[in-house]
Amino acid sequence: MLDKIARLSEEVNSTTVNSLEEIEALRIKWLSKKGEITELFDAFKSVPPEQKKEVGQQLNVLKTNALNKINAWKEEFESKVSDSSVPDLSLPGFPSVQNGTRHPLSIVKNQIISIFSCLGFTVSEGREIEDDWHNFTALNTPENHPARDMQDTFYVNLNPEMVLRTQTSSVQVHIMQSHKPPIRTISPGRVYRNEAISARAHCQFHQVEGLYIDEKVSFADLKQTLLYFTREMFGTDTKIRLRPSYFPFTEPSAEMDISCTICKGKGCNVCKYTGWVEIMGCGMVDPQVLINCGINETKYKGFAFGMGIERIAMLKYQVKDLRLFFENDVRFLKQFTSA
Ligand code: DAH
Repeated sequence: MLDKIARLSEEVNSTTVNSLEEIEALRIKWLSKKGEITELFDAFKSVPPEQKKEVGQQLNVLKTNALNKINAWKEEFESKVSDSSVPDLSLPGFPSVQNGTRHPLSIVKNQIISIFSCLGFTVSEGREIEDDWHNFTALNTPENHPARDMQDTFYVNLNPEMVLRTQTSSVQVHIMQSHKPPIRTISPGRVYRNEAISARAHCQFHQVEGLYIDEKVSFADLKQTLLYFTREMFGTDTKIRLRPSYFPFTEPSAEMDISCTICKGKGCNVCKYTGWVEIMGCGMVDPQVLINCGINETKYKGFAFGMGIERIAMLKYQVKDLRLFFENDVRFLKQFTSA
C-alpha cells in the first residue's frame, strides 16, 4: 500500500499538462469514483490497524496534492483561454478614431474663396514655375527693376528664363491672355522669395490674387469689393483704409489697412500702436498691362489686388510666428477647425 502511494505521489508531482482535456483525464484517472486514489481509500479498510495511522496520513497528503494540482492547472488554463479567445466585455470600448483637421492656411484660403465667390469671382490656378515674362515683364516690371534682384527671386538653374513665381499676379497675365472680358477671378497659390526665414518672413508663402476686368470698372468698385471682403472675413465692425502706394502693374495703386482686429483700433503691439494693419496691395490695372495681355485698353478697365494668406491667418488666429504654419506640429494644427 505504501509503495502504491509513493508511486502515485511521484506521478502527481512529475506530471505536466498541455490542455484542459488532459487535466480532466487525470482527474478521472486519480480522483473519480473508480480513480486510483479513490480505490486506495477503499482498500484502506483492509490495512492492518498498526499501519492505519501512517497510511492514512500519506493517503490524505496524496489526495490533497492531487486535488491542489488539478485545481491549479485548471485555473491556469482557463485564464489562458479567456485571454486569447473570449473578450472581456466589461472593458471600455476602443478609443475613438482621431480625425485630422484642415491646415489653418487651407481654412483661410477656403474662406477667402467662398467670400469672393459670393461676388461672382471664379477660381483660377496658375503655375509655380513661371517664365520671367509672366512673372515680371508683362506686369510692367522692367528688367532693371529692384523686384527682379537675385536676392528676391529664385531663378531656375536649368533655364534662366524661368523663376519660382514671386507673386500670384502672374496668373492675371495668363487669364487675360486666354479669356475675354468680363473677367472676375481670384487665384490662390504658393509663391517663393529668396528671403531669410524668420517669425515674419519665409522663403515660401501663399497669396490670393484678385482680378476684375470689364467696361466700367472704377476705383469705387475696388473699394466696395474690399470692404465687403473685410467685413465678411474679420467682422462687420472692421474698418478699412486705403493709402496711396506703388506697384508696377497698377495705376493708381494703394495699400489697404484694416482696423486692428486685436485691439479694435486702440493700439497694441500687433498694429505697432497705430490701430491699423496692412493686409493687401491693390489698384487699377495699368493700361499697359492690358495691352501686354492683348486686352483693348480703350474699352476695358480693371482692378486687381493681392494679399498674403499667412498674414490674414495670423491676424485671424493671433498667430505670432509665421514659421508655425510650415512646421506641421500637430499640437498647433489641431487647434483650428473649419468654419
Ligand atoms: N503682387 C503684389 C505683391 O506680391 C501684391 C499686389 C499688389 C497684387 C497690388 C496686386 C495689386 O494685384 O494690384 O506684393
